[in-house]
Amino acid sequence: MSRNPAKLIPSSFSQLPGLEALEAVTLKAGGKTKSTTAIGYGVTTDGAVPSALGVKRDVLEKLHFNGEVGETAVFPQSDGTVKIAVGLGNKDEAADKSLRDGKSLRDAAAAFARAAADHEHIAFVISEPLGQDQAARFVTEGILLARYRYVELKNEPKHTNLSSVMLDIAGAKARHVAAEISQGKVAARATIVARDLTNTPPGHLTASDFADAVKMLGRKFGFDVKSFDKAALIKMGCGGLLGVNRGSTEEPRLIKLHYRPRRPRGHLGLVGKGITYDSGGISLKPSDPMHLLMKMDMGGAAAVTGAFSSFADAEVPCEVTGWLMCTDNMISGDAYRLGDVLVAVDGTTVEITNTDAEGRVVMMDGIALAHEENVDAIVDIATLTGASIVALGEKYAAVFSNNEGLGQMVLDSANGIDEPAWHLPLEDSYRKNLQSKVADMTNAASNRFGGAITAALFLEHFAQDTPWAHIDIAGPMQVDKDDLWRSGGATGFGARTLVQVAQNFTA
Ligand code: BES
Ligand code: MG
Ligand code: ZN
Repeated sequence: MSRNPAKLIPSSFSQLPGLEALEAVTLKAGGKTKSTTAIGYGVTTDGAVPSALGVKRDVLEKLHFNGEVGETAVFPQSDGTVKIAVGLGNKDEAADKSLRDGKSLRDAAAAFARAAADHEHIAFVISEPLGQDQAARFVTEGILLARYRYVELKNEPKHTNLSSVMLDIAGAKARHVAAEISQGKVAARATIVARDLTNTPPGHLTASDFADAVKMLGRKFGFDVKSFDKAALIKMGCGGLLGVNRGSTEEPRLIKLHYRPRRPRGHLGLVGKGITYDSGGISLKPSDPMHLLMKMDMGGAAAVTGAFSSFADAEVPCEVTGWLMCTDNMISGDAYRLGDVLVAVDGTTVEITNTDAEGRVVMMDGIALAHEENVDAIVDIATLTGASIVALGEKYAAVFSNNEGLGQMVLDSANGIDEPAWHLPLEDSYRKNLQSKVADMTNAASNRFGGAITAALFLEHFAQDTPWAHIDIAGPMQVDKDDLWRSGGATGFGARTLVQVAQNFTA
């Protein structure tokens, strides 16, 4: 791994501390063991309270615990362990909702994991039959994602890592529970890899560090990785990625990932924005707390990387190729300027009217390369526009597509695993805002209206006739503080969506 002298603790730093912590957790079907110190008992809003909890409903109600999803009540025991009441919601709904998307179970399990935050060995008992084995999968995801924390650079982290989780789920066969637990862990891995990369400070994760991390993940989790350095990018003609990189002392990297199952059912292309730090360039961002978040401007590339880390173990049935467009967006005597014209890999010329609209400039090369590769469809993911946050708030990703079927599949995949996404239109008449006097297009629109849409229209050009969908994750890429299974910091949003997209994809 390359070591930058600017790094704080160059000898011991891990780029993927959350993944290491995840791999150290043992998850099993069954009840508590000798080491268990915290046991959660699922309690619905109606029906019986599990007797093993040792408290009656009237006591719970006095503590304002009614069994709603997200509620917990902790009962310390005389032997130093704790029993925790964990709300599952309405009895019938708990079963029904979990069948659809698992949201309530994932949320309930996350609330439990947080209530047991100081405990290494935990057990969760659901005595109410939920009518399906998949429950174990959702519970696993909720627990593992809630216990994630990026504390790698703290000298004295106060965080307790998980060591073991026992799941006792009524009515489910142990063998099925075990299989669902392992799929839950694979799904959580996608998100955790994405969070680790996204939380890493920009000086610790340059484009070349990113390539090193992806290569390591490829060896570990079964996909091929090729990294293209500056000289290779010049040969290829990636004028967008090279243009944005000009102001940096760090080299850019195009990282190409490839996964292929035995008999692939179609070929999917994934393109991720990998801006390791976005200063805005000459169109410098003003000093604002928001811009501390610009170390997360590679969240799209991180989501693609996380998804690839799960494909083999999730037995994804299609071939997938990924392009990660990695560089920082910096300022120097040689930075790209307003008025400069960059030439994309497909020959399109782009006049730069705002160097802070750099995401689409690096993505244009990635999308054009995916089109050139003749993939059956392209899905790109990027922390692309502040305008998408203005439009939909922080909870929702914006989804655009030139193909109704693909767009709907992406939306259903995202919403189905509780990564909320909403469709926005590719309004053709707004394209005039990207007209340039000297080149084929400008990179930034001539006014601020519909900024997420004009950015998407810019990208659409490079997909040409290939079915394409674009996911703008500027809003949900991070949360300020813990929110159920979303731990404060980078959320890893999009990684599980992309696994689901690849799972559902047919040519
Ligand atoms: N990385 C930003 C978008 C962003 C903003 C992501 C806030 C996450 C949180 C992107 O490169 C950017 O700067 N976009 C500009 C585009 C504008 C100059 C046309 C924006 O949104 O202001
Ligand atoms: Mg920018
Ligand atoms: Zn950016």
